[in-house]
Amino acid sequence: MKYLVTGMEMKLLDENTTKHFGVPSEILMEQAALVFVQELLLQYPESKNILIACGGGNNGGDGVAIARLLNQKNKNATVLLCTEKEEGLLKQQLQTYQAYHYPLVRQIDDLQDESFDLILDGLFGTGLSRNIEGNYYTIIEQLNAMHATKVAIDMPSGISAEDGHVLGIAFHADDTYTFSYEKLGQYLYPGADYCGRIHCLAIGITEESILERKPRAMYLEDEDIRQLLPKRIPDGHKGTFGKLLVIAGSVDMAGAAYFAAKAAYRTGVGLVKICTPQENRMALQTLIPEAILHTYGKTIDKNVFLEDLKWADAVLIGPGIGQSEQAKQLLQWTRAGVIAPLVMDADALNLLSENTDDLINPHLDVVVTPHLGEMSRLCQMPVSYIESHFCEKACEFADTYNVVCHLKSARSITAVPYGNHYINTTGNSGMATAGSGDVLAGIIASLIAQGMPYDLASAVGARIHGQAGDVAAQKVGKYALMASDLLDGLTELAYLQ
Ligand code: ACO
Repeated sequence: MKYLVTGMEMKLLDENTTKHFGVPSEILMEQAALVFVQELLLQYPESKNILIACGGGNNGGDGVAIARLLNQKNKNATVLLCTEKEEGLLKQQLQTYQAYHYPLVRQIDDLQDESFDLILDGLFGTGLSRNIEGNYYTIIEQLNAMHATKVAIDMPSGISAEDGHVLGIAFHADDTYTFSYEKLGQYLYPGADYCGRIHCLAIGITEESILERKPRAMYLEDEDIRQLLPKRIPDGHKGTFGKLLVIAGSVDMAGAAYFAAKAAYRTGVGLVKICTPQENRMALQTLIPEAILHTYGKTIDKNVFLEDLKWADAVLIGPGIGQSEQAKQLLQWTRAGVIAPLVMDADALNLLSENTDDLINPHLDVVVTPHLGEMSRLCQMPVSYIESHFCEKACEFADTYNVVCHLKSARSITAVPYGNHYINTTGNSGMATAGSGDVLAGIIASLIAQGMPYDLASAVGARIHGQAGDVAAQKVGKYALMASDLLDGLTELAYLQ
């Protein structure tokens, strides 16, 4: 698991390292510059002419220190100093730099030669706090237009480390070398799009410096998945590996039930029972004969349904159920009668959006998996607002309703009520296709049925789903990718073997 820190959290870590462990800021800055130069020259050994744009804060100080070290490595490094304000660590760095008489200009127009191989951005780091305007705006525009490889020091200037928003304009980096911890704003869109490849460099700030509340944001890695996956007990039987009830599909949507059920089987669950209209019986028996079917006609036998709920180790409701009176009835019975952990997806969420008070559930383990449109209906707010307050809305929803909220987008987030939030780093644009959400819901429910805690199951499920998508994209391409390719992708993930 890796933390993703906000700008404010990083500032505290810097301060704690200095105050509690006596490591002066000057040393942290020198260390940052040293490791940055070392990595940069490893990656771009042929580079010769390097421009370093420096702002008025400590990110500018980092930039000047980097320029000094590059000159000492016989590179032609030029500082473009974009501030009149020369204070604190920046002032110290400038005094040292100028004592060596290394090149420095104050305007892009003052550059003698504009043929740079590399442009480094040290205008703003984690301290960016407002929209970029005026001179800084123009400089970023000019830097972006230059033909050279672009590298951001700590953060691409203009990207908020807090949430990935572009504040006015942003430097478009090919690489971002960040320090100590990756930042939340580097993983959320649109920020993620401006970072290029992210490299995290150690500068001596360790977990011991986390003296206040631990960062809430993090992402899982493959090693975590390996450790968290339910073990395949050698003498287990199908009951050992969990029983999942999937309430899914309507007359025109048998596929949703199929995708959810098959994804559940592909991720290890022992038994899946599908509750679906009788019209889907033939299709499902052909497509997935491994599933037990409970089909219903115009009326549903409530007692049989309640028995199904009791039978299950986890229940998934929603994929393709539609919003008919019958779907409403099933949702109501489920919510009243379920004792196992419950995953609610798709139309279950659309039905709930009519009255979200119904969602408050203090005692059950509930996961909701909305996409932006469903979340917009649940919160009664425009999609654009949900999109621009992505983390905040997912966390608020999780806390308010005491549910795990897995909000789906290019970078999905699993928000645990008053707990961690996991950003998923896997997946690709090919996965924005019909049935993809049904596959995800099936995976999450499958892991829960096998005994994985519901909060982790959502985060682990999201990573597995994304990786299946990445495998599929490699095979068939992002344009051709369909939900059935995700099911195939699941069979190729090393940790599921
Ligand atoms: N337009 C104009 N100015 C702005 C804007 C804007 N849109 N947004 C913020 N600013 C100003 C701020 O007011 C601030 O100026 P001030 O210091 O006069 O208040 C300045 O820009 C902040 O800029 P940054 O350089 O981004 O922020 P900071 O000075 O906090 O430095 C840091 C960030 C520490 C360099 C971070 O990116 C980092 O971790 N770097 C690597 C590690 C390092 O070097 N650490 C050691 C030094 S700092 C320390 O230990 C506290």
